[in-house]
Amino acid sequence: MSMLTSLSRRVFHHRTMSSFAAVAQQVKLDILSATHLEDNIAKRKEISRTFISDTITVPTHEMYEYATLATLGDDVYFEPSTKALEDHMAKITGKEAALFVPSGTASNQIALRTHLIQPPYSILCDHRAHIEKYEAGGTAFHSGAAVTTVIPSNGHHLTLDDVKDNIILDTDIHFATTQVVALENTLNGTIIPQEEVIAISEFVHSHGKKLHLDGARLWHVAAETGTSVKELCDPFDSVSLCFSKGLGAPVGSCLVGTEAFIKKARAFRKLFGGAMRQTGILAASAAYALSYNFPLLPQVHQLAKRLEAGLEEIGVDILSKAETCMIFYDPASVGVTFDEIADRASQLAEPLVLGGSRLVVHIQTSESAVDDLLSVIRQLAEEKKAAGFVKPETPVNGSSKSRNVYMRR
Ligand SMILES: Cc1ncc(COP(=O)(O)O)c(C=O)c1O
Repeated sequence: MSMLTSLSRRVFHHRTMSSFAAVAQQVKLDILSATHLEDNIAKRKEISRTFISDTITVPTHEMYEYATLATLGDDVYFEPSTKALEDHMAKITGKEAALFVPSGTASNQIALRTHLIQPPYSILCDHRAHIEKYEAGGTAFHSGAAVTTVIPSNGHHLTLDDVKDNIILDTDIHFATTQVVALENTLNGTIIPQEEVIAISEFVHSHGKKLHLDGARLWHVAAETGTSVKELCDPFDSVSLCFSKGLGAPVGSCLVGTEAFIKKARAFRKLFGGAMRQTGILAASAAYALSYNFPLLPQVHQLAKRLEAGLEEIGVDILSKAETCMIFYDPASVGVTFDEIADRASQLAEPLVLGGSRLVVHIQTSESAVDDLLSVIRQLAEEKKAAGFVKPETPVNGSSKSRNVYMRR
């Protein structure tokens, strides 16, 4: 090697190292602020006083500790803790197989895409269904499916007659025939009677169609009715269940169904970009949530019912009762608006976070948050009364709707 070559190599090496140090300097990041510990304590406090959703629940220290013990591995090649979670989910839902997916939306959309094979086709669901209203038009985008939305005739849940009246059978080529009927349980916190689910299932299957369940909060139905998860899932071909809402895990849902269905769904999960790598920590968090957070749901429902009773006692209209963890209300009957409640609640020494007509109680909601919310509404109602507001004879329908738009999460 010539002297010159060796020298130029050394110069190049030196230059590379110093420019690498500069690049590393640009790349590095410390996300921990000087106050991050206090910030997280404050965040946990805020969550205990937030009524907008149960998706805002956060992992506890115990959940995190358990998660760090999970197996290591790349789940695209089957990671052991994730496999254990999937096997467990298949077992408790009474299905052949399960698939861990990043979100409830991914789970529903992959399920529908897997069921829908040969267009033209359509999906039938409740007009309030998450798959229809809050999944960014995913059924059209991912599956090219038309959607038949149905307003439940009883104002509560879809019935067999609603399905019979709206299903499109293969009789007329002008229509996109229904291939999947999709139910949601709970829907806005309300429970579909299981007899109705069974009747719909028998009808749908008698016509060779599929029945999917968005069971993001099916845990709440099991907790409230004491029905096993398997019994609740039996009538369905596929079910999506979420860990990151009422159960308080950080991320993830499971889709369950037959072996063949999940095999195909696994391929769609990859295609949709939802196959994840080191998922052990997520699977362990979900397992922790199943073991330690699911048992908390009955007391969550009790707290929601206590909130509802307090609202009724003040004279507030209840639009949808606390069957599980959600209440929809309208304070117009006591002359108060959602904006007034939210503004007053935000001025408390320990503020409350509110979103409008929907109140969600979750495993991290504090009892004092419920008491404080009731005090705010009671106080406002008394002020209105003192200022001359008289409760109208007939219910005031939506005069306080300015914040009656809620983010469904
Ligand atoms: C009933 C229901 N299904 C599906 C989803 C979607 O879940 P994700 O937000 O994880 O996509 C949600 C979200 O809250 C939901 O409430």
